Amino acid sequence: MTPSNQFDNKLFEQLHAVIQEKKDLQNPVIEILRIAQEIFGYLPIEVQEYIAKEMNIPASKIYGIVTFYNFFSMKPRGKYIVNVCTGTACFVKGAPKLIQMLSEHLGIEIGGTTPDNRFTMTAVRCVGACSLAPVFVIGEEAFGRVDTKDKLVAILERFK
Ligand code: FES
Repeated sequence: MTPSNQFDNKLFEQLHAVIQEKKDLQNPVIEILRIAQEIFGYLPIEVQEYIAKEMNIPASKIYGIVTFYNFFSMKPRGKYIVNVCTGTACFVKGAPKLIQMLSEHLGIEIGGTTPDNRFTMTAVRCVGACSLAPVFVIGEEAFGRVDTKDKLVAILERFK
């Protein structure tokens, strides 16, 4: 299969090697999709179709998996993912206000990516830091009780 020119063919060569390495594992699809997302940054249809063809499974099955798991994205994502917890504790303690502040500052809604591709904002379930509610996570770091725009901006400024 010859993929379109949107991506460097080297990326597809990398993906091909990953598929060859992983395809005989038990239930390899999620692992292959995870690595494909690392390679391409997201999982556009052409990448899904490539995986489907190489693994000889219906593209609809791949699409079903990609759309089922929050972790996978079909849209380009920013350098940093701002995961806002919308679990019960965070919701009660101000997640909606936090989301509003983030939206105003970044100019995006949940699921959106800033025009400079720096941040993508997503909503996640409880991240296990309820005592700090409301919480958002960037990378491995959780930020809690961010209740003013100044605090929020100071945190975001750390992620260049
Ligand atoms: S509900 Fe947000 S960390 Fe638990």
